[in-house]
Amino acid sequence: MSPIQELVPLGKTGIQVTQLGVGAMSWGDRMMWGYGRGYQEEDVRQAFETSVAEGINFFDTAEVYGSGTSERFLGRFRASVSAPLVVATKFMPFPWRLTHAAIQRALRNSLKRLELESVDLYQVHWPFPPVPVERWANALADFVEAGLARAVGVSNYNEDQMRRANATLARRGIPLASNQVIYHLLDRRVERNGLLKACQELGITLIAYSPLGQGVLTGKYTPEKPLSGIRSRLYSRSFLEKIQPLIRQMREVGREHGGKTAAQVALNWCICKGALPIPGAKNE
Ligand SMILES: NC(=O)c1ccc[n+]([C@@H]2O[C@H](COP(=O)([O-])OP(=O)(O)OC[C@H]3O[C@@H](n4cnc5c(N)ncnc54)[C@H](OP(=O)(O)O)[C@@H]3O)[C@@H](O)[C@H]2O)c1
Repeated sequence: MSPIQELVPLGKTGIQVTQLGVGAMSWGDRMMWGYGRGYQEEDVRQAFETSVAEGINFFDTAEVYGSGTSERFLGRFRASVSAPLVVATKFMPFPWRLTHAAIQRALRNSLKRLELESVDLYQVHWPFPPVPVERWANALADFVEAGLARAVGVSNYNEDQMRRANATLARRGIPLASNQVIYHLLDRRVERNGLLKACQELGITLIAYSPLGQGVLTGKYTPEKPLSGIRSRLYSRSFLEKIQPLIRQMREVGREHGGKTAAQVALNWCICKGALPIPGAKNE
C-alpha cells in the first residue's frame, strides 16, 4: 500500500479518508485559474482519474467553484469510476442568503450537480455575517438528520467560531468533522492563533487548503518565471526571490528522502503537522 492510500479518520465521523485529498477549485474556474486557456475538461478528468487510480478517495469542491461547473464535473467523473469516494462541497453564505430554506435550496442544487442523493461532507464556506454560526450549524445538523449529508464541516472559521459551531452540533449529537483553512509552509497562522491546537483537542480535522501556496511551493515559479493572472498580484517577483532559499531547502530534503519533489515535501509537511492537505490539480 502506498502512503497515500493510508486512511485517516475524518474528525469523529467514522468516515475514513486518504491522508491527501484533491481540491477541485480550478475545475471550470476561468477568472482565477484560467480554465479554458491551457487546460480543459479532458485535462481535469485525467487529473481526477489519475488521483483515483493512485488511491486518493477525498475530493473537495464548492457550489461557487466555476459557478457550479466544478460540482458538475465531479458528479460526471465520479460516475465513471467504481472506487468509493468521499465527496465534500460547500455552501456560500452570501449576505442575501439568510434562511434555512436558502441553505437547503443550495444543498439540493449541489446534490443535483454532483449527481448524489447525499453528500459525504457539507461545509459552510465562510463565517460571513449577518447569520450567526449557530444558525448555520443547526441547519447542518438538520441535513445530517434528514440524510442529505453524512457529515458536516466549516471553513475559514476562527477558533471561537469553530468552538461555537462545534458546541451547537454537539447539542444535536453530531460531530463537527472539519475546519478547512489556509495552511502551508508560507502561511502558518493556524499554529500561532490556536486553531490547529483546538482542532486536535476537539478531534476536528484541519483540512489544509492551498497546501502548495497556490503553486509557489512547487518551485516552478521564480523571479525570472513569475506567475501570471490574479496570482501574479498575490506573489510578486520580490516575494518569489525571497522564498528561493526555502525552495532550495525543500528540494534538498526531497533529495535526501528518495528523490521527492518540493511539492511532495510541502504536502508531506502538512500531513506531518496533523492536517489533511487538498492540493489543487488541473491536470494529470
Ligand atoms: N475553503 C476555502 O476558502 C478555499 C480557498 C482556496 C482553496 N480551497 C481548496 O483548496 C484546494 C487547493 O488550493 P489551491 O488550488 O488554492 O492551491 P494549491 O493546492 O496550493 O496550488 C494549486 C496549484 O499548484 C500547482 N500544482 C499542483 N500540483 C502540482 C504538481 N504536481 N506539480 C507542479 N505544480 C502543481 C498548480 O499550479 P499551476 O496552476 O500554476 O500549474 C495548481 O494550480 C482548492 O482546489 C479548494 O478545494 C479552499
